[in-house]
Amino acid sequence: MQLLTSVEPYPIAAWGWNSTKTIHLMTEAERRVYADRAAHLGDPDFFNVQTEALTDSSYIASRMSTFDMNKATASTSIKEGSLTGESEQTTHFSIIDKEGNAVSVTTTLNGSYGSKVIVDGSGFLLNNEMDDFSAKPGTPNMYGVIGGEANKILPHKRMLSSMTPTIIVQNGKLFMVVGTPGGSTIITSVFQTILNVLDHNMTMQEAVTAKRVHSQWFPDMLFQEINAINKTDSIALITLGHTISSRGGIGRVDAILVRKDGKLEGGADPRGDDTAEGY
Ligand code: DON
Repeated sequence: MQLLTSVEPYPIAAWGWNSTKTIHLMTEAERRVYADRAAHLGDPDFFNVQTEALTDSSYIASRMSTFDMNKATASTSIKEGSLTGESEQTTHFSIIDKEGNAVSVTTTLNGSYGSKVIVDGSGFLLNNEMDDFSAKPGTPNMYGVIGGEANKILPHKRMLSSMTPTIIVQNGKLFMVVGTPGGSTIITSVFQTILNVLDHNMTMQEAVTAKRVHSQWFPDMLFQEINAINKTDSIALITLGHTISSRGGIGRVDAILVRKDGKLEGGADPRGDDTAEGY
């Protein structure tokens, strides 16, 4: 399945059976799929096999984004894909009621299924929010962010969060309600959504749909959703010294804009099954 989806966008029939192009493509897809097999597959009775994430078409496209028609990739440079899409376990919703009261809520278990422990008889999962503390100076947590003394574990202390449920008020009037899941990418997703409206004149839906980029100091990397940055700009950024890495969807923003005429405009993220509804 993962292999078939990997090669689907290419004109294999036109290239011909066992032609150079066809075999090159198959080999490159197989290299990536076997790296995933080694890390992500095992007896599901013992190991959480993330079938949905592995067969997700945008995940597979991100795996193939490093495929070069003119060059074989060294297997040593291929690692298993990161399945953050499935392990990110947070929800955001934005609401404005008839009276103009606004609510922006982001709620989280942190990782996929939190600590994977259900309290007997209760039916709810315990979170694994301890991961948001810095376990050791300079040691990244599951979202790759690092910290030190300020966020070290201490009794009664609250761990640092990237959650950014946001209500923007302009001249005393409600302007926007916005937020998203996404671990460390929450901050940059909310940031870009706001800029998209304020500086790039996008509608709320356009601002939410627009491709996103993300960077967080360490890893020293400029992440992009596939094709978020065009080729010319990619080259210019690389020339400036950035290292660009493509990944699957960044964030799942849900937002509401109060337009100049007072009407509300919702933006629901097409990266998920999100919807915008009026009343
Ligand atoms: O509070 C935080 O920053 C993290 N616990 C949020 C985790 C998260 O957004 C995962 N979901 N996608």
